[in-house]
Amino acid sequence: QIVHLADYRPTDFVLERVDLTFELDPTNTKIEARLIFHRREGVDASLPLVLDGDELKLSGLLFDQKEMSASQYDATPESLTIRDLPAESPFELTITTYINPEANTQLMGLYRTNGVYCTQCEAEGFRRITYFPDRPDVLAPYTITIIGDKAANPVMLSNGNFLGGAGYDEGRSFAAWFDPHPKPAYLFALVAGDLGVIEDTFETMSGREVALKIYVEHGKEPRAAYAMDALKRSMKWDEEHFGREYDLNIFQIVAVSDFNMGAMENKGLNVFNDKYVLADPETATDQDYANIERIIAHEYFHNWTGNRITCRDWFQLCLKEGLTVYRDQEFSSDMRSRPVKRIADVRHLKSDQFPEDGGPLAHPPRPDSYREINNFYTMTIYEKGAEITGMIATILGRDNFRKGMDLYFERHDGQAVTVEDYVKCFEDASGRDLSQFFRWYVQAGTPLVSASGAYDAAAGTFTLSLEQTTPATPGQPNKEPLHIPLSFALILDNGSIAEPTSVTGGEITGDVLHLTERSQSFTFSGVSSRPVVSLNRSFSAPVNLVFEQSLEDLVHIARHDSDLFSRWQALTDLAMPNLAQAARDARDGKDVTCDPAFVAALLECAGDASLEPAFRAQALNLPSEADIARALGGNNDPDAIHAGRKAVHEAIAKAGEEVFVRLYNEMKVEGAYSPKAGDAGKRSLRGVALSYLMYAENSPQRAAEAFAAADNMTDLAQSLTLLAHRFPDASEATAALASFLTRFDGNPLVIDKWFSIQATIPGVDALERVKALMENPRFNPGNPNRVRSLVGTFAFGNPTGFNRVDGKGYDFLADQILAIDPKNPQLAARILTSMRSWRSLEPVRAEQARLALSKIAKAAGLSTDVSDIVGRMLKD
Ligand code: ARG
Ligand code: ZN
Repeated sequence: QIVHLADYRPTDFVLERVDLTFELDPTNTKIEARLIFHRREGVDASLPLVLDGDELKLSGLLFDQKEMSASQYDATPESLTIRDLPAESPFELTITTYINPEANTQLMGLYRTNGVYCTQCEAEGFRRITYFPDRPDVLAPYTITIIGDKAANPVMLSNGNFLGGAGYDEGRSFAAWFDPHPKPAYLFALVAGDLGVIEDTFETMSGREVALKIYVEHGKEPRAAYAMDALKRSMKWDEEHFGREYDLNIFQIVAVSDFNMGAMENKGLNVFNDKYVLADPETATDQDYANIERIIAHEYFHNWTGNRITCRDWFQLCLKEGLTVYRDQEFSSDMRSRPVKRIADVRHLKSDQFPEDGGPLAHPPRPDSYREINNFYTMTIYEKGAEITGMIATILGRDNFRKGMDLYFERHDGQAVTVEDYVKCFEDASGRDLSQFFRWYVQAGTPLVSASGAYDAAAGTFTLSLEQTTPATPGQPNKEPLHIPLSFALILDNGSIAEPTSVTGGEITGDVLHLTERSQSFTFSGVSSRPVVSLNRSFSAPVNLVFEQSLEDLVHIARHDSDLFSRWQALTDLAMPNLAQAARDARDGKDVTCDPAFVAALLECAGDASLEPAFRAQALNLPSEADIARALGGNNDPDAIHAGRKAVHEAIAKAGEEVFVRLYNEMKVEGAYSPKAGDAGKRSLRGVALSYLMYAENSPQRAAEAFAAADNMTDLAQSLTLLAHRFPDASEATAALASFLTRFDGNPLVIDKWFSIQATIPGVDALERVKALMENPRFNPGNPNRVRSLVGTFAFGNPTGFNRVDGKGYDFLADQILAIDPKNPQLAARILTSMRSWRSLEPVRAEQARLALSKIAKAAGLSTDVSDIVGRMLKD
């Protein structure tokens, strides 16, 4: 049941061509698969062909169009084994299966959502459609014929180029598609139904015209305009920055309302969770727009990093995901503010990937075994995977990185490859040895880098001593030292950057210091005065840095670093000890005090008009409760962390009331709404200012006014959140929640915000509130977006409400997991990961969490998805 990387071997049979015919029926769809195979050279002629299945029933099997005798094959729901196949010559199998899309609640394979047929085949969904060698290293061109009821399915789509379509028989029509680019089955897609469409075109760099189509529910066409714009910008950007041109004459996107993940990069036919397509100012926040831009780009970029070059096996998942996240991050950085994007990405990495890497679910970016591949679509594969590619770019420098990417595209186009193949391209293109660097892929855990500096005035030298360790993770007690690229600057008193005459102790390239030993000291000569070290600038390496810097030094960085990321990092480093101490004080019932130097530095930044508003908003957004918990390291009391953080906010609000009033007035955006980064930044700074003002004024008044005055969803959702979270019992909050509901009733994506805002109201009452909302007729337990916005948001995003000391939050989650699991195991497993940090809770809560997890573990009939997660979480 456990799959091991070491067991990899190629298939015995080579798949040459795939020809599929679907006869659509909501409950009984017929699939005829014609597959041409030949035995791989050198494979023993007695070996059978074994195809994968999942809940399938074989209804017909032909060999070169002739019946096979029953003794020649065995069919089970999980596999089809065929014997007596030719030693050399190609042969054709025709396999017939019937499936029930309507009953497919797992949302894997072919299913129906709101009357639309759609597929999700990654990772192993294709085997729920027909018997097939369902693995990413089996690539073939596909011809697809879709036959369906004419009236119900005016739109019938698949991968590749459209061949043609017409009437088929009484009441039915057909459409045929051909995808010439060999691809694995996980990239197959089919969509059919009655959908609206917006159309556009894109002229590629070589002058070919590509038809662009985005399909949405009728009436929602105008809300797809931003996605279309983002698509065209993505296509252009990939040409300019990676030399990648689109390769079919049509590119299609379909938005569906039931989807387990964000979106899927099926060749030429991306399928999206509608949440990441639909937007207009009235219903989407700035964050929604940014997410749409990012995910449209991500799936489009997969066309080269994932589709043209795919993964040899699922252990290599980060080959396509990490690289594609890196690419979408670069794209967003170019579209928006690079430092602000970096800050947001690092916040996300630290709040979600670091806890994963430091807990029971830790795994290397390239794992060496798995029980359930669906559980490996993780923050580590995606985000740490992206950081690894980012580090390669840092180590190689811009030009060599580009050369390596070019070589990768040239060398491996059309192949299914490994992470080793990928890294080799960078080695070959640059001449640099990346063998030590490769450990990042196979070693789990967040490295800890400790740093200290010593200045010798007489000699004019500065010595930076560094030490690296990586904590043990499940299955990996001992860790080797990594090659850690640390971008740095030695900042002098006047804010300029020192230019040492020479360095000893290790390699430095440009502003990057290469830490390769367990401990290593770099000595810089020709340093005229004591410098302040800005280390790991732009977060060049995903590590925990411990650097005992004085308050003055941190303030100096916060003021002077030319790297905005590091200025933000310095402010965070100033904030964290205050937040940690505040949590301890709150726990011990002491008064919370705040370091005035920290408050002054933060307010100075807030009021600095030379800094972009989005940056200032990031600085004022203090580390989250989860971040503080991580910094505290263990024995955590979420109530104390919450109370301490609130007290710190109040202290800052009081000291900075004037600044916040000014910002609140100055940052008002005039004129028509635009989702562009500049305006969005002003709205976010204004929102933070409002939040502080509410601490200073201790009244719902101002937020109620903001809610009434809001003319876009960003302002509306922001003010509603503040009202509901700070003054849940005030009539202003109740009224605003009610008016929001009335106004957006019938728009499920907006009602999801209404669910989430209420699910995250802090405090012990949250659980009862969530339970009541689940009874609301607008809640649909079968729709993943609804479940995530209510149950998921509660478990992931409400530390005080979820971590009730009586354990009722965990108990509720256990019941929910057990209720969701039989219908949608992927969704259940994903939400369950919200408990991954249970061991760092104080003992009473930790014991309650353990009991809830044990209850899940003991339940009968668990899916592999949930059983894998709960098993790993409970393992000591
Ligand atoms: N490849 C998709 C993306 O990142 C995600 C698909 C996830 N599918 C799954 N079964 N977990 O763009
Ligand atoms: Zn992806």
